[in-house]
Amino acid sequence: MEQNSWGWSDRLSLSYEPMDETHKEFVELCAALSEDNPDTFLNRLDALIVHSIAHFEQENRWMEETAFPPVGCHRQEHDAVLEVMQEVRRRVALGETDLAARLAEELPLWFEHHVDTMDNMLARFMAAGQANQLTEQLSEQQTDQQGQTQPA
Ligand SMILES: [Fe+2]
Ligand SMILES: [Fe+2]
Repeated sequence: MEQNSWGWSDRLSLSYEPMDETHKEFVELCAALSEDNPDTFLNRLDALIVHSIAHFEQENRWMEETAFPPVGCHRQEHDAVLEVMQEVRRRVALGETDLAARLAEELPLWFEHHVDTMDNMLARFMAAGQANQLTEQLSEQQTDQQGQTQPA
């Protein structure tokens, strides 16, 4: 059964551009898993795994750089889903082909939940951090300008 209705929508946007761009790529590769072509399934899954490794590493790096408090939980979800993808890859290659459709069905649900919770928190935290930085920069600029206008 074809199941190509799932795709990117505003519902998945976190209004944080660098994350949304990566998530659009994830959604595209993840939706491609439900194509009904067993011959290319492993190639499609490999593409998603390669993407996911980079995607999760990027978020893990952001969490370290910003000292994001729930870094442990978030990283654990990344590790767990990556392990599932790799395990399914191994078992489908050994002949358990019915797992392909199950993964294609369940990953979108995992992703939506992950975006709503972990990624949503991180996106807000990053956006708030950037807003604070901007405020600091502006107040530094103001202080500099005031310094410059005072007579020597
Ligand atoms: Fe993400
Ligand atoms: Fe994440």
